[in-house]
Amino acid sequence: QDNKFQAIISHAKEYGFVFPSSEIYDGLSAVYDYGPYGSELKKNIRDYWWKSMTQLHDNIVGIDAAIFMHPTTWKASGHVDNFSDPMIDNKDSKKRYRVDHLIEAYADKLTEEGKGQEAQALIAEMERLLSTDDFTGLKQLLIDNKIACGVSGTTNWTDIRQFNLMFDTKVGSVAEDADTIYLRPETAQGIFVNFLNVQKTARMKVPFGIAQTGKAFRNEIVARQFIFRMREFEQMEMQFFVRPGTEGEWYKYWKEARLQWHLSLGIDQAKYRYHDHAKLAFYAKEACDIEFEFPIGFKEVEGIHSRTDYDLTQHEKFSRKKQQYFDNDLDENGKAYGNYVPYVIETSIGLDRMFLLILSNAYEEETLTKEDGSTDSRTVLHIPAKLAPVKLAILPLTKKDGLPEIARELMDECKQHFRCFYEEKDAIGKRYRRQDAIGTPFCITIDHQTKEDQTVTIRHRDSMLQERVPLSKVREIVTQAIEK
Ligand code: GAP
Repeated sequence: QDNKFQAIISHAKEYGFVFPSSEIYDGLSAVYDYGPYGSELKKNIRDYWWKSMTQLHDNIVGIDAAIFMHPTTWKASGHVDNFSDPMIDNKDSKKRYRVDHLIEAYADKLTEEGKGQEAQALIAEMERLLSTDDFTGLKQLLIDNKIACGVSGTTNWTDIRQFNLMFDTKVGSVAEDADTIYLRPETAQGIFVNFLNVQKTARMKVPFGIAQTGKAFRNEIVARQFIFRMREFEQMEMQFFVRPGTEGEWYKYWKEARLQWHLSLGIDQAKYRYHDHAKLAFYAKEACDIEFEFPIGFKEVEGIHSRTDYDLTQHEKFSRKKQQYFDNDLDENGKAYGNYVPYVIETSIGLDRMFLLILSNAYEEETLTKEDGSTDSRTVLHIPAKLAPVKLAILPLTKKDGLPEIARELMDECKQHFRCFYEEKDAIGKRYRRQDAIGTPFCITIDHQTKEDQTVTIRHRDSMLQERVPLSKVREIVTQAIEK
């Protein structure tokens, strides 16, 4: 399975999806750039999330807050004191590791060796020790299981310490006057500090949500799984503000609704599972992950958290500004609910991780049997049509006889509505393969018959079936498929 992961990484680079950052300088660890097709795919995923959250929910509105925030934000939110992970250094290799990642990697190895139960017991024990901050016990767990660090294979560990994951920088040009500010480690706080601005200006009534997409930064220590864990990444988050006492039902609602969003992309449900947290983040009352079966195993792609009134109350305390909502609905005794600090259910998904999910799910090296019995192969990305970077490739069979002119005309019509690609070089089979490799759901071939009867060949990516359809129907066929 690791081979498949490596193949996906190579494919992503070769076909312009994802490049290592500043590659000519040998890259920068855990930072990546998105290429021509990658940036389209990423945008399409973001747009699909944004539409489903805002346009399709009339009680959810969007914002776009800054990455830099007043430094007190992170004191109030708890990130300065608590957003840290237990780390351990290997005395021989001088490398630092997150303890939970070391243990998880070892558990994955056990699972691969068919020792699934042992792996589960190990993870359960780790979660128990983490939840009580029992660092002595955790270190003992590493020693007892002879868990070594990858490179040197030695188990000569230091004690475990906490290490904050926030990046900081200075504002102001004179260092002495400068103040330390942080690059946000989550987009959520930009929503919390704007809670009343949004509620008042958009005239929202509880329950309502605020959605946002944007960059977040974390100084991740173990960062070796391509775009799964990055130091600069993008989140798509939504905070849903509810009346205290109703958070349980709303948590359940969003847990289910978010899984349905994933399934609406046509992805096999068997590749998903929930993971309810035993160890809760410092702000959470209930929390679960939606996990997906990546080629590297089941891993978190999204979190749903019941955050109580923790954040708003903290901001109230630190800013000394009321963060209350007046609810004039009546309770069962006919009395208005009145003023309160709402409770929050949060849905938080990593855009880059969703991108990796789509690539992992789409990637296939297919063996094809030809009519004469011989075999051939192709690499194809079965990306859902609505997310595909290019929706339609328009391919005149030859460069002459007026075929390019017809093709250009179709291109001019369709490019107003969706992303098209035009190509007249190379044999048609080769051109089809290139489109398969970037996940284009439809190819149109314009040939000599087109001039006679105004029909074209449409080729479907997944089935490779070809059929003749009227030229005038192409736009409609593609539009229907991407709106489905
Ligand atoms: N506001 C809550 C929050 O940030 P989180 O579980 O720390 O919760 C939410 O992060 C999601 O963000 C994760 O499920 C994951 O998809 C994504 N994410 C977190 N850290 C990441 C990283 N270093 N690289 C890529 N994605 C990351």
